[in-house]
Amino acid sequence: MTLDVERIRKDFPVLERRVHDDQPLVYLDSAATSQKPRAVLDAMAEYYELHNANVHRGIHTLAEEATALYEGARDTVAGFINATDRSEVVFTKNSTEGLNLLARTIGDSPSGGESGNEYGVGPGDEICITEMEHHSNIVPWQLLAQRTGATLKWIGLTDDGRLDLTNLDQVINDRTKVVAFVHQSNILGTLNPVEPIVRRAREVGALTILDASQTVPHRPVDLQSLDVDAAVFTGHKMLGPTGIGVLWARREVLDALPPFLGGGEMISVVQMEGSTFAEPPHKFEAGTPMIAEAVGLAAAVDYLQALGMSEVAEHEAALTSYALDALHTVDGLRVIGPDTTEQRGGAISFVLGDLHPHDVGQVLDERGIAVRVGQHCAAPVCRRMGVPATTRASFAPYTSFAEIDALVEGLQHVRRFFG
Ligand code: ALA
Repeated sequence: MTLDVERIRKDFPVLERRVHDDQPLVYLDSAATSQKPRAVLDAMAEYYELHNANVHRGIHTLAEEATALYEGARDTVAGFINATDRSEVVFTKNSTEGLNLLARTIGDSPSGGESGNEYGVGPGDEICITEMEHHSNIVPWQLLAQRTGATLKWIGLTDDGRLDLTNLDQVINDRTKVVAFVHQSNILGTLNPVEPIVRRAREVGALTILDASQTVPHRPVDLQSLDVDAAVFTGHKMLGPTGIGVLWARREVLDALPPFLGGGEMISVVQMEGSTFAEPPHKFEAGTPMIAEAVGLAAAVDYLQALGMSEVAEHEAALTSYALDALHTVDGLRVIGPDTTEQRGGAISFVLGDLHPHDVGQVLDERGIAVRVGQHCAAPVCRRMGVPATTRASFAPYTSFAEIDALVEGLQHVRRFFG
């Protein structure tokens, strides 16, 4: 069934906004952060109005209700991504924190020797990423390499913005301990093939980590069938609140890695001489967690599931196809990244002649059109594609075809404006 976008839009209060001389808001920046439906806002308000208490700590009614809501959110997320077990779902602040958690704890795992574990990284080992990563999936691994003496390698890009897998067997080799890669590029929109990368990583016994921040909100994602060892995504890009993300990892990985942050909640027994730690996921959730945010995230997942993720994907594929065709009618516009609908999602970057994207974004904003401009936290991609920055339009279930028409008219206006 196709999505009833006009009905969906009524669920998002902010989409009623008018900006700059009473023009309707055209929100095409959902890859940066999505808007939130009333169901999410209400769930969070209701949590604070009726159930607010700390979790896992009290025996009073509110504490039990808050704990049930928080742990219920974990069940909801586990079901959404098809986790084998709820204990594989760790709540983090965002995707960035999930990736830092992995890089930090892998670095803290002694490699080799009797006390070593199979996930540790040391001198001579290699970490493999791609040139398409968000900075959050580059910098933590650079820091890990610096700390441990390991070497960072990466899979390069083709001119049309896809992963160049021709030398995959050399880039991922017997020395590779970790392969961390993005499912869909936030800047190029490219949807990456998971299977050949995971197959090669498995051949050499490397841990596989998927940044699914730009796919979990937009298409069905079954982490078991993707066969990766760990994945991250973030609440605020999937109609949920800011301040909460998810790290999913196979239970044996979470068991083997040492704790990340220390404090309350993550311990079993604390003595002055030393402490023992809780089982996953609590081992990785030190301190009072983001309770209201978890409630909001669960409401977002319920909302997406009610729409149907296949229907969401179908709607966004239709928008992407329509947008690519329409953008091609704009004189001097060049798409940066896959120029067809093949294996790509609804984040489209482009340049307009030699206009700087900041100028493009500013003139569009004057017409109420919100796009993101700049390097999109993916500077190496801009360097590789030979552009200083791009303008990016990105979609969500509430995006309408009329908004794409408005973007294209806006871009025609930009061209006229700058002569
Ligand atoms: N990662 C977010 C984006 O692509 C912020 O805009």
